[in-house]
Amino acid sequence: MHHSILHINSSSRIQGSVTRDISTQLVHQLALQHDQEVIERDLAEGIAFIDEQWVGANFTDPDARTEAQKAALDLSDSLIDELKQARHIVIAAPIYNFGVPAVLKAWIDQVARARVTFRYTENGPEGLLKGKKAYLVVASGGVPLGSEVDFASTYLRHVMGFLGIDDVILVNANELGKAANDNADIKQQLAAIAAGEQ
Ligand SMILES: Cc1cc2nc3c(=O)[nH]c(=O)nc-3n(C[C@H](O)[C@H](O)[C@H](O)COP(=O)(O)O)c2cc1C
Repeated sequence: MHHSILHINSSSRIQGSVTRDISTQLVHQLALQHDQEVIERDLAEGIAFIDEQWVGANFTDPDARTEAQKAALDLSDSLIDELKQARHIVIAAPIYNFGVPAVLKAWIDQVARARVTFRYTENGPEGLLKGKKAYLVVASGGVPLGSEVDFASTYLRHVMGFLGIDDVILVNANELGKAANDNADIKQQLAAIAAGEQ
């Protein structure tokens, strides 16, 4: 069953963060619209990198894993549970140095698990997270979203598709010196989502 809204934040800023503000507005809107509980995952609080134990454990058959190997996958297991439970996934991502914040990359490394969230078939890789919709709230200081130096939104969209989530909406939260809360363009994008236009 997947009935929740998963809200993932990755900005290092807590105060004045454009992606936090706008994604929170979107999450409230989705929660009212779909009557779903919200799960908050704030990556700025810290997230472990995958390490040798993790990779070894993931390559070991689940039934053959030692206690230490199971423990090495604990965080990954719970992050994947959050994803599986979610019907809507809202990822708030500032562009940092042309890509996603390192904590968001670390989260992706934790949740992209062969045989759990994707698998290889005769026809190539197949994403195993089905029936979900993702919203990418992406902000930059200057890089136009979708331009050839935006490696964040294109990357995130690709990763979502790889995991089986093809229904992806990009909320362009480009800061460009504007205040997030009274940005008419953002209001319009959120209204279009509420009206089901995208
Ligand atoms: C460490 C760091 C790196 C950044 N790198 C870029 C960048 O490469 N390109 C860009 O357009 N903006 C860059 N920015 C600007 C942020 O994307 C922009 O301020 C965004 O609003 C930050 O998201 P937030 O408001 O949610 O914190 C960077 C900001 C920080 C703090």
